[in-house]
Amino acid sequence: MKSYSVRLIPVCLKKIMKMNASVIAEKKSIIEGQAEIRVSSQKVFYNPVQEFNRDLSIAVLSVFLDDFKKSFIEKAQKKAKRLTAEGIEPEKTIEVPITILEALSATGLRSIRYAKEVPNVTKIIANDLSEQAVETIKENIVYNGVENFIDTNHDDACMLMYKHKFHSKRFTAIDLDPYGCPSIFLDSAVQSVQDGGLLLVTATDMAVLAGNSPETCYCKYGAVSLKTRSCHEMALRILLQCIEHHANRYSRFIEPILSISADFYIRVFVKIHSGAFHCKKTTSKLSMVYQCVGCDNLTLQPLGAFKANPTEKNPGQIKSCLPLVPPVGEFCVHCNHRHHLGGPIWSAPIHNIEFVNRLLNHVEENSHKFGTAKRIIGVLSMVQEELQDVPLYYIVDKLFGRVHLETMPMLQLRSAILNAGYQVSFSHASKLSIKTNAPAQLIWDIIRTWEKTHPIKQNKLETDEAAKYILSQEIKNNIDLTERADANPNSRRNGALRFQFNPTPYWGPGSRASINVSEGKMHKAAKNQNKKRKKQEKREHSPQSDNVERKKQHVSDKITVE
Ligand SMILES: C[S@@+](CC[C@H](N)C(=O)[O-])C[C@H]1O[C@@H](n2cnc3c(N)ncnc32)[C@H](O)[C@@H]1O
Ligand SMILES: [Zn+2]
Repeated sequence: MKSYSVRLIPVCLKKIMKMNASVIAEKKSIIEGQAEIRVSSQKVFYNPVQEFNRDLSIAVLSVFLDDFKKSFIEKAQKKAKRLTAEGIEPEKTIEVPITILEALSATGLRSIRYAKEVPNVTKIIANDLSEQAVETIKENIVYNGVENFIDTNHDDACMLMYKHKFHSKRFTAIDLDPYGCPSIFLDSAVQSVQDGGLLLVTATDMAVLAGNSPETCYCKYGAVSLKTRSCHEMALRILLQCIEHHANRYSRFIEPILSISADFYIRVFVKIHSGAFHCKKTTSKLSMVYQCVGCDNLTLQPLGAFKANPTEKNPGQIKSCLPLVPPVGEFCVHCNHRHHLGGPIWSAPIHNIEFVNRLLNHVEENSHKFGTAKRIIGVLSMVQEELQDVPLYYIVDKLFGRVHLETMPMLQLRSAILNAGYQVSFSHASKLSIKTNAPAQLIWDIIRTWEKTHPIKQNKLETDEAAKYILSQEIKNNIDLTERADANPNSRRNGALRFQFNPTPYWGPGSRASINVSEGKMHKAAKNQNKKRKKQEKREHSPQSDNVERKKQHVSDKITVE
């Protein structure tokens, strides 16, 4: 035994020394925004593709904190007036403490950028569970000269947040940017944000949220996800209901100001307020979703509603009630098939458009400050145009594909909806989306009208009962397919960068830092990177390939599985 250890120790030591030397040698510099950080590759998590996420968060925080500061000062001035009236001398200067917690900080890049680029911030805490990450954060803070702004903390994010749940210790904003699912951090996060403060949450487990594993989605988010055409927006709405559910336990509730689906992840920005009375409105902001298994038609069933309850004193009074169910029959009226049930999802608006307008102005005026400004402007322009009161959407080629028809041009379909007197918009979450308040009957009538001039090959119908049923139904609406100028929204007409192709050859949520990842998993991740692009390239080079351009458009709609 002794001889082994004598022989082995120096070998191990040599190995460790070699590893350390290579780690030091591998340390590289990354410049993003006003920050320059140094990371030893693979030991601490850094994902360059998330620059858009960080840029957008800086813009949102800048506008939000400006509002927050103004309202804080207003309240303080009112209080000062009241005190003066009571003969008490108020404080001479008003200090606005603005604190941000980056609960899962990795390299510290985000915190450093917040410190350097977001005005009005007084203190940031950059926390991480990994000791190595905290060491890196400390080095980067010194390297960037922001020691006065950022404190580091080495703890489990939940433990740290629970220590800050008391009023005086709460943060103005908390940023949660985990690997995969953020739900384990929500209970502590919703308690540790100030009233009117901001919670910023990323989720990258899109496969779970988008219906690949509804059971797992229920375990993690308390909602059943559905594999549906509007899965990206449904993912946002599942996350929002999950945050609301956590907040309601503490008589708190959310106000979403911006909810974005981008690349392989979703990111929501929600204000947190307190008020047990307002929490009673939650059920009317949530819905179950019936999905027809034949035609994919989606029907929402709200969990709560309001009805008139006039009194002499208050004729406009309303009261909450339970809505009548179900909203669909046993069989779908469009295709005669049955339904799946998903949800609950957040069915109230997912953005605050007044905030989005100001945010867009801010980014346009400061575009030189953001590496991804063009894309932010493109995405926000679409968000601005989205129909706010219409949850979820159709995907145009899936609609026509369902009945084996050639796809109608987007502008013609949008025109037909407008001609019938309804509203239509895109969703920022999908290039081929159709968001509309028109009933599904109208959409199928448009498709049936299109079929008259673009007839289906009869052999396609023989084995497809749903398609046969849909196309055999009588057209009940007057359909006018004449194209109109207002069917083309400004964001599309102005050529805004609304969707982008993979920004780098190896992109995605990124792997956990190597200290947490087994070699097998890393190997699999590397093998799977850009799997879809590789497949697509193979297809494009094969003689069977057709309609390549249209397939390319789907890149933006893809779900990248972690
Ligand atoms: C996706 S990275 C964060 C990226 C970072 N926000 C950025 O913008 O570059 C997730 C980080 O969370 C840390 N982490 C994982 N579980 C944690 C926990 N329970 N508490 C605190 N940090 C945790 C990991 O060590 C990792 O550094
Ligand atoms: Zn159906």
